[in-house]
Amino acid sequence: MDRLKNKVAIITGAAGGICRKASELFCQEGAKVVMVDIDPQVESFCADIVAAGGDAIAVVGDVSLRDTWVQLQDLTVEKYGTIDIVVNGAAVFSPPTHDWAHITSEMIHEVMRVNIDSMLYSYQTVLRYMMKNKIRGNFLNFSSSTGLAFNGGAVQGYPFSKACIKLGTQNMVNQVSKKYGIRFNCLAPNYVWVPKQQHVWDMFQNHFEEATPMPYTGMPEDAAWAIVYLCSDEAKYINGVCLPVDGGWYVKK
Ligand SMILES: NC(=O)c1ccc[n+]([C@@H]2O[C@H](COP(=O)([O-])OP(=O)(O)OC[C@H]3O[C@@H](n4cnc5c(N)ncnc54)[C@H](O)[C@@H]3O)[C@@H](O)[C@H]2O)c1
Repeated sequence: MDRLKNKVAIITGAAGGICRKASELFCQEGAKVVMVDIDPQVESFCADIVAAGGDAIAVVGDVSLRDTWVQLQDLTVEKYGTIDIVVNGAAVFSPPTHDWAHITSEMIHEVMRVNIDSMLYSYQTVLRYMMKNKIRGNFLNFSSSTGLAFNGGAVQGYPFSKACIKLGTQNMVNQVSKKYGIRFNCLAPNYVWVPKQQHVWDMFQNHFEEATPMPYTGMPEDAAWAIVYLCSDEAKYINGVCLPVDGGWYVKK
């Protein structure tokens, strides 16, 4: 119950399937959580967690904007006194049907803008705060199986962004960890069922079930427990990993 006791976390994408669950587990494990999403549903999801005894607040905001991160940093420090953990879960997706002949650079740029800028601005605000205040915190970013290897999809902005996030996580280890003791890891789910992506499940259920060695589909808690672990002190010597949470998909022949 105390795996994240007294840790203060900002979790983005917290109205989404995985990071809503992560917010709930973080609170169960003793963390104080600032739940952020562009979707106002984050407020009612946060209210559910508080009603169950969790210590959390909700912020509706666009994390692809630098100003949002400045506000998040100020608000979190004012409310909880510090920031130990950032979970960069917010992401936009691209339609799965764009092949090389039909994709436009605008489609790619918009996905890259949201998915990459949110990570970049979290570094340029909260990371600076951690460095200045000598906090040995950690960042958990989201890559994806699509960012690790070709997985049969068409050319899209989404996998490009997820490959960049993996590199943009691991690169930070070399720039920052030695001097400041701050860790950077990422998660690479393959398919984890979440309510907002039901339409993807409807299109590709057979493919996902066939491609996954485990005999069942990943659920939000399967990814969320991995986030709890990587962000906790139990993982204090784990740095720069991109952990597949995919039922064995990555090593399947
Ligand atoms: N579910 C999967 O199978 C899977 C696979 C690989 C990677 N991922 C990654 O896991 C993370 C969590 O996604 P999920 O599966 O829970 O999907 P989800 O669609 O349920 O959640 C994503 C959330 O991000 C929010 N968001 C989008 N743009 C935003 C912005 N600019 N500012 C603030 N919030 C914004 C959305 O409103 C949504 O609530 C994402 O980074 C995703 O790319 C998921």
